[in-house]
Amino acid sequence: MIDTENLTRKFGNLTAVDNVTLHVEKGEVFGFLGPNGAGKTTTVRMLCCLIGKTGGQARIGDFTVEKEEDCLKIRKIVGFLPENVGLYDSLSAYRNLDFYGKLYEVPEQKRQENIERLLRLLGIWERREDSVGTFSKGTKQKIAIARALIHEPQVLFLDEPTANLDPEAAKTVRDFILDLKKEKTTIFLNTHNLDEAERLCDRIAILKTKLIVVDSPKNLERSLYNRKTIVHLDIVSDDVLAAVKQLDAVKNVKANDNKLILDVDDPEKENPGIVKAIVQAGGNIQYVTELRSTLEDVYLKLIREASVK
Ligand SMILES: Nc1ncnc2c1ncn2[C@@H]1O[C@H](COP(=O)(O)OP(=O)(O)O)[C@@H](O)[C@H]1O
Ligand SMILES: [Mg+2]
Repeated sequence: MIDTENLTRKFGNLTAVDNVTLHVEKGEVFGFLGPNGAGKTTTVRMLCCLIGKTGGQARIGDFTVEKEEDCLKIRKIVGFLPENVGLYDSLSAYRNLDFYGKLYEVPEQKRQENIERLLRLLGIWERREDSVGTFSKGTKQKIAIARALIHEPQVLFLDEPTANLDPEAAKTVRDFILDLKKEKTTIFLNTHNLDEAERLCDRIAILKTKLIVVDSPKNLERSLYNRKTIVHLDIVSDDVLAAVKQLDAVKNVKANDNKLILDVDDPEKENPGIVKAIVQAGGNIQYVTELRSTLEDVYLKLIREASVK
């Protein structure tokens, strides 16, 4: 649905987006993660034909982000939630959506249907006549997402949809994104919130001007760190330590108070043997847990490595 090849944008001497090649499937929720200034907004603005690119190729569906006639078509099939919401505070929720629907040339009947459906979905239908200026930040953000959806776009670009929202409002916005995901809308989600990316996205790209990696949240967590098995004992005796060190399955052992921290490639397969060896060496096991790297560990490592290069 979205394809780029060596997509590049320079502002004078500054390269904001450097040779980004990526592919987003139809119906996928694709997370675009990176620190401030990584080039996330610039990428999305190029993909929505709001600014030009200075190198490479990009396609949305069957259309090319270069040709003027295609750009008009792209604008019709994409919805964009910008960083700054930009609704008309003095107009009602309904009128805001109606106005944008008209801009997108959505026929009147369809416009009414879509406004009602979206406002009901978001739980603000009852307040449709209230002017937007009276709504909370979270509700405004929901209306802005509804606005991005008024013309039933095939691809929805969300630029940091929960930034600056309180936790409760952020949750309602995330739940709405999950609803859209169920309806198979293709979503391109710019965020620097790792937890959000992990919960919502099928795949995540990490960007720092250049694309660093693209993979599923699970694979990112798995690929970069060993999983560790933690064995809690009443006491870590020399016999227990010696027994564990002998095992081939254990790559590295650290003893920490009454815990053993073991590097293990395949815990499901190897933990039973490890437990047996500890018991045979006279160890009293209290419980066994697992330490996994989080997406945050992976993200910080990759961003740090990218900074050094
Ligand atoms: N219109 C512009 N003119 C000059 N520099 C810009 C412009 N827009 C963005 N930049 C620069 O491009 C880089 C990427 O910005 P941006 O895409 O907004 O990053 P992000 O959205 O990931 O925070 C930053 O260094 C920013 O200052
Ligand atoms: Mg941005």
